[in-house]
Amino acid sequence: MIIFDSENKVFKLDTCESTYLIGIYEENYILNYYYGAPIPETCVGDLIDRNANASFSLANPVIGENGFTPDCAPMEYGTNGAADFRVSALSIRNANGDTTTDIRYKGHKIYKGKPSLSPLPYVYANNDDEADTLDIYAEDKVTGAEVTLRYTVFEKMGAMTRSAIITNASDKAMDIKRAFSLCVNMPEMDYDMITFYGRHAKERSREQRALAHGLQGIHSKRGASSHCHNPFVAFLKHGAGEEQGEAMGFNLVYSGNFSAVAECDFNSNTRFIMGINPEDFSWHLEAGESFTTPECVMVYTDKGLGEMSRIYHRLYNNNLVRGKYKHEKRPLLINSWEAAYFDFDTDKLVSFAERAKEAGMDMLVMDDGWFGVRNADNCSLGDWFVNEEKLPGGLDPLISRVNALGLKFGIWYEPEMISPDSDLYRAHPDWCVHVEGREPMIGRRQLVLDVSREDVRDNIFNQMYEVLSKHKIDYVKWDFNRNISDAGSAILPADKKQEFFHRFILGTYDLMDRFTKAFPDILFENCSGGGGRFDPGMLYYSPQIWASDQTDPIERLTIQFGTSICYPASTMGAHVSACDRTGYETKGDVALWGTFGYELDPNKLTDDEKALVKEQVKEYHKYYDLIHYGDLYRLIDPYFNHFRCAWSFVSPDKTEVLATAVTMRYDRDMPTFILKLRGLDKDKKYVCEETGKVYSGAFLMNAGINLTNKQSRDGESIKFYFKAQ
Ligand code: DGJ
Repeated sequence: MIIFDSENKVFKLDTCESTYLIGIYEENYILNYYYGAPIPETCVGDLIDRNANASFSLANPVIGENGFTPDCAPMEYGTNGAADFRVSALSIRNANGDTTTDIRYKGHKIYKGKPSLSPLPYVYANNDDEADTLDIYAEDKVTGAEVTLRYTVFEKMGAMTRSAIITNASDKAMDIKRAFSLCVNMPEMDYDMITFYGRHAKERSREQRALAHGLQGIHSKRGASSHCHNPFVAFLKHGAGEEQGEAMGFNLVYSGNFSAVAECDFNSNTRFIMGINPEDFSWHLEAGESFTTPECVMVYTDKGLGEMSRIYHRLYNNNLVRGKYKHEKRPLLINSWEAAYFDFDTDKLVSFAERAKEAGMDMLVMDDGWFGVRNADNCSLGDWFVNEEKLPGGLDPLISRVNALGLKFGIWYEPEMISPDSDLYRAHPDWCVHVEGREPMIGRRQLVLDVSREDVRDNIFNQMYEVLSKHKIDYVKWDFNRNISDAGSAILPADKKQEFFHRFILGTYDLMDRFTKAFPDILFENCSGGGGRFDPGMLYYSPQIWASDQTDPIERLTIQFGTSICYPASTMGAHVSACDRTGYETKGDVALWGTFGYELDPNKLTDDEKALVKEQVKEYHKYYDLIHYGDLYRLIDPYFNHFRCAWSFVSPDKTEVLATAVTMRYDRDMPTFILKLRGLDKDKKYVCEETGKVYSGAFLMNAGINLTNKQSRDGESIKFYFKAQ
């Protein structure tokens, strides 16, 4: 719900978990009065008073030196140069070259529902009753910039979104130097900041640090959200934890360069901003033109990090992913990559499909290597026609044999890339991302295709359309295997060159939009060398993302725990592979947490392993709803415990529970190991399917189950399924 208290000039934005207050102060400054647990008041009295005695803090001459200074006031959208000396969310350079920016309240509108943010991806309302929106109109009288601060409240979900629209209402051109999606101010700094760092095969590893005075944050300037940092930040109040205390999350719905910065100031207050990375960014606005920032999804709860995660999970399942596979069961797939790499032909793929069929799987995915003359990663990206040496007669003979077995068929693409050794490059050498006069850097022996250009996008769309429309293809894996250097486009004029990175990602979104509209029945799975673009922007177009090329189940655990802090199990691509660190039980139990599938040559499985795979396929079906739509509880997080970890899924009605524990490394101190469950109904009786024993919910949560003598080897896993009687 959103209300405006006109007497106190306060906007009150309520979700079931939080209240957010925005006030219009003297001289129409827009201030962030409060963000926290629900409160009934709109009048906050002296709550926003600050000690204004910093290093020569400056005053607004009209208000006078009465204690208010932009230097420490909780500015709702901090701007550059007008006495707010903290990191700014907005900076405009006007036609004179001045960059001082100062926005003040001009008006507002409150309405039901949520407008589209297209061409950007966004969290949507399924109907107008799900959401309420507030647009605050602000203006900078000198630059002529008009700013709409847009807030949408998903009351029942416990989440909010924010974005900003900047319009050049002057009669001269201007340039946006910084335009963040969000700025929040907390009147304290006793928080831990949780971020997710990583690299290829080690994405989204949790990192947690106490806030300190000054700047701290993460960013990407790789042209992708990246393996190295995820566009997600949480703040955990000191003393708070997984299931109790204040937790706040901020997730940018964007797949390109981003920045997330917290600044703790001289009053030990915290400002946090998140949005497009201002480095290598600038946006030119002619008179009358507008620019829309991506949106940021905010969650506040006083029920701990776990509840914050569950709010994101429900929101993303309900209001972010789209299309047929939002609700429909995803096919259990076997992927050819780790089974064959580039070395396959029709018969080999069909043999995979035959074994997959015997095990009860649903789909064969042919990964990289089926097009052009691609037998290694050194050529052919951009030449999206079938390699008939590997697949004689093209795709039809292969697909019809796979379909005849009763399996669906999926295919791999890397649409935003071009190999220097390709027909496409030979025909259009200026279609790669490059800077005039520089030899572009090379990565995996490929260049990036300039999808900021419409003609380039049309070419790729038409080539792929030809294949996808003429064959029975049920799934597309959309890969992206390098980052962007030498950022430039042959057709952008000098005054728009710094728009390249954002234009590139808009080009990607445009392509994805065209494909998802043209092929609504195809399941798209995003991928970027594993999880190099695991972000909500991508989830808007593809309901699942290959979480990592790391398929060792023990290494995977930190990745899956990290990913789960924001993203639901239904989005997390997870496969059983042939890696030999653990047995197939553990590999299956870990992969079951995600979208589940196989990444191995099934012909090489022993009879015992084949039997186990059949059981796992049955488990996939049995637990599908529980895992995809249940509530996740991180019971023991490998961030804190290097020996073992555990997690569970609880059905929304609390009648079903699946709990899994993995011994990452057997603890030779042999401590007692009692696993306590969470999120059950304390009064219900639960029967354990594995042991037949009956427990109360209260017992399982408070006394727990004793696993002390149940695990004695590195890499073992154990799981329990409970059903309420
Ligand atoms: C990177 C992906 O993460 C892999 O799964 C595989 O598709 C390769 N690319 C293919 O080149």
